[in-house]
Amino acid sequence: MSRKPRVVVTDYIEPDLDWEAGEVERCGADFVLHQLKFRPENEVIEAVRDAEVIVVNMVKMTADVIDQLAHCRRIIRHGAGYDNVDVAACTARGIPLAYCPDYCVDEVAEQAIALIFASARQVPQSRKILDDAVATGRWDFSPLAKGYRMAGKTLGIIGCGRIGSKVFLKMRHFGFREILVCDPYLRPERLDELGITVVPREKVFREADYITVHTPLTDETRHLVNRDTLAMMKPTAYLVNTSRGPMVDHEALAEALRNKVIAGAAIDVYGTEPPEKTYPLLNLEGAILTPHVSWYSEDAAWAIRRKIVEDIRLALEGKPPRYCVNEEVLTGN
Ligand SMILES: NC(=O)c1ccc[n+]([C@@H]2O[C@H](COP(=O)([O-])OP(=O)(O)OC[C@H]3O[C@@H](n4cnc5c(N)ncnc54)[C@H](O)[C@@H]3O)[C@@H](O)[C@H]2O)c1
Repeated sequence: MSRKPRVVVTDYIEPDLDWEAGEVERCGADFVLHQLKFRPENEVIEAVRDAEVIVVNMVKMTADVIDQLAHCRRIIRHGAGYDNVDVAACTARGIPLAYCPDYCVDEVAEQAIALIFASARQVPQSRKILDDAVATGRWDFSPLAKGYRMAGKTLGIIGCGRIGSKVFLKMRHFGFREILVCDPYLRPERLDELGITVVPREKVFREADYITVHTPLTDETRHLVNRDTLAMMKPTAYLVNTSRGPMVDHEALAEALRNKVIAGAAIDVYGTEPPEKTYPLLNLEGAILTPHVSWYSEDAAWAIRRKIVEDIRLALEGKPPRYCVNEEVLTGN
């Protein structure tokens, strides 16, 4: 008798996956759970070797792991990014890599907007002033950095896909003089839909008072915020990054903040995660830091659970994924 297909989860962040287990078992498959984040590669290989479907959160799916897979029909990355999976190795083995870019679009846009407002209104810095006032019994606003009215200023959006365009649509109502969008890959129909024209990246760096980055991590976007582009920015400007850490040269950004080249930065994503104790923006005045939490809301956390189960069901039924990183595996091109 042939065995049931096996769905293996390498690691997860939910308190439990009881709901998923019931759903997958209803599809006629075994559901096997692991917590292999930070575990050695040989343990990962042992856990996934016989799986038909693999769901991976943070565990690194290296070429060495992928080369050992005996029956794998699909790898599903639990999340929007997939930098921890070797895509070329998946493609070489003919394994479609599914991912989930559509569960937290509003959340990330809202986080970017929250960080723009927190920067402009100096929200985290103000708490220290309040605490000092409670301790001394008098207000002292002298530690407040110079801040400016947001209305009438210029917003810059780099990358105008799912999340960047949400930021654009939500921020149209906040009284900016201009919203500059840089995205060389937007289709003309999409430009028409949004009613925008795009501008070169340099114009955004030179003219925007708030710049928010929403590009994918590619060779072209790695360190797109660097010493040179920071030097183009206004000394009163703020940078917000909720996309991927390597989009920013964090050493150069720290230097720019220390030397008042720009007014501030709000960062949700880091080169290594979590950032190390030596991360140069820790304790730097003018830096607002959040722990890669833009994706989170209870709504998004449940949305991704439902979408991953749907992705598992599609894989077990031999149907194409909702979103596939290496489409060529499906089309055979
Ligand atoms: N912090 C979080 O919790 C979190 C959660 C989800 C997604 N993200 C990240 O947010 C980013 C955006 O995600 P998305 O779903 O909007 O992606 P998307 O693919 O829908 O949009 C990205 C846009 O960037 C554009 N782009 C590509 N290269 C560019 C370049 N060199 N210059 C300007 N624009 C360029 C593309 O044309 C596209 O329109 C990704 O990096 C993703 O990993 C972060």
